[in-house]
Amino acid sequence: MLRMSADRSELLQALAAVVGTAGILRGDVLAGRSAGIWSGEALRALALVRPRTTDEVARVMQLCHAAGQVVVPAGGMTGLAGGHSSTAADIVLSTERMNRIEAMDARARTMVVEAGVILQSVHERAAQDGLMFALDLGARASCTIGGNIATNAGGVRVLRFGMMREQVLGLEVVLADGSVLSSMFDMLKNNTGYDLRQMFIGSEGTLGIVTRAVLRLHEAPLATETALLAVPTWDQVMELLRYFDAALPGALAAFEVLWRDHYELNTGSCSEIDAPLETETPFYILMDVFISDIDQGRAQLEALLTTCLEQGEIVDGALASSETERARFWQIRENFEPEQKKFDKIYGYDISLPLEAMADYVESVRQQLTQRFVDAELFAYGHIGDGNLHFSIYPGQARDRAAVDEMVYFPLQALHGSVSAEHGIGLEKKAYLKYTRSESEIELMRKTKRMMDPTNILNPGKLFDL
Ligand code: LAC
Ligand code: ZN
Repeated sequence: MLRMSADRSELLQALAAVVGTAGILRGDVLAGRSAGIWSGEALRALALVRPRTTDEVARVMQLCHAAGQVVVPAGGMTGLAGGHSSTAADIVLSTERMNRIEAMDARARTMVVEAGVILQSVHERAAQDGLMFALDLGARASCTIGGNIATNAGGVRVLRFGMMREQVLGLEVVLADGSVLSSMFDMLKNNTGYDLRQMFIGSEGTLGIVTRAVLRLHEAPLATETALLAVPTWDQVMELLRYFDAALPGALAAFEVLWRDHYELNTGSCSEIDAPLETETPFYILMDVFISDIDQGRAQLEALLTTCLEQGEIVDGALASSETERARFWQIRENFEPEQKKFDKIYGYDISLPLEAMADYVESVRQQLTQRFVDAELFAYGHIGDGNLHFSIYPGQARDRAAVDEMVYFPLQALHGSVSAEHGIGLEKKAYLKYTRSESEIELMRKTKRMMDPTNILNPGKLFDL
């Protein structure tokens, strides 16, 4: 056991000896660092430690383990559930200097990366060889692969390719006591007992620190077509999901829905984007389709949209005619500036529930919300092809987070839904984990945590309390 003085200077010196003086930021240097792109607050930490290798992470963890020092792992700090939130007494371990793409094998369709590589860099590297990395999400330019793994990130391609856990072939993690667990395989199939990798994926930094990974790549489509459709009823939204998935087998790569409120906010006076469709409908579908033959693929999609229009399944529709237009359609979905401009506070939600129940659920939450808080507003959108709904809720002057949370989360129990579809539990949803997970599931999670981190130094208090 390392003997510690009250100010932890001995530990900090030992850490500096491992990562070098440039690898540990404190005081004034640290004051300039933010706690993430969404938070707007300064990072709180005893020190920000920035190892360069797995070995350095291991030695940092050995020291912190011996000293009983809490460590909060940090990737791009774009999480939306408070999973990377830290206090002034914590060591924040950032993977920002572990940002090497170590290897790329186009024939095996794999890439070996360090945890701090930015998601967009993986996309760009894969594209150089005509390949794609399937995970894609709004924070692509800031989030890291390690964070994507720790949170089992979702995003806009889950419908076709699954979540992050399906993109990880091999994994290396450093455990709470500093031991290294390496499972850097590049095989698709490896049926040799418990899949330990999967335990770390989505564990939100509570069981180990991801240091490296072998990623699975896919062939890139020749082109992607993007359509925006105005749809009158929820029944039609559900019908259209099946219709397009059946008519374009394996090619439907995103199926997002924007409720009218979100569409209007993001094409209205607070937004720089004009509405591509003038028609007002309760729902708008934003759809990506992978095309393997440019002329034929586009013609087929045009024909399908015409049929939908003729049959009244949609009342208006547009097919993007350039990359710029594609990006503009997606901006209507992914841009959060208009809500930030208009409201001084937004509560974000990320839930799953059966599509059959979704539209009624949205209206019932909206009604309860605006009855209790007359100045509140609700905006709904999400990865509806995955059953994943997001809300941005302006809570009104009352700002009663607990009351709004309860309105959103409580009904999910009866609907057999999830309080987190993709963002995770972090700190924000701890109190509601029990709405989705049973007592026995939570107890087994606790036992696992106690076994793997007996002194509770790795991201303690996230997911659940011990
Ligand atoms: C999105 C984030 C909020 O889908 O998950 O835009
Ligand atoms: Zn999302």
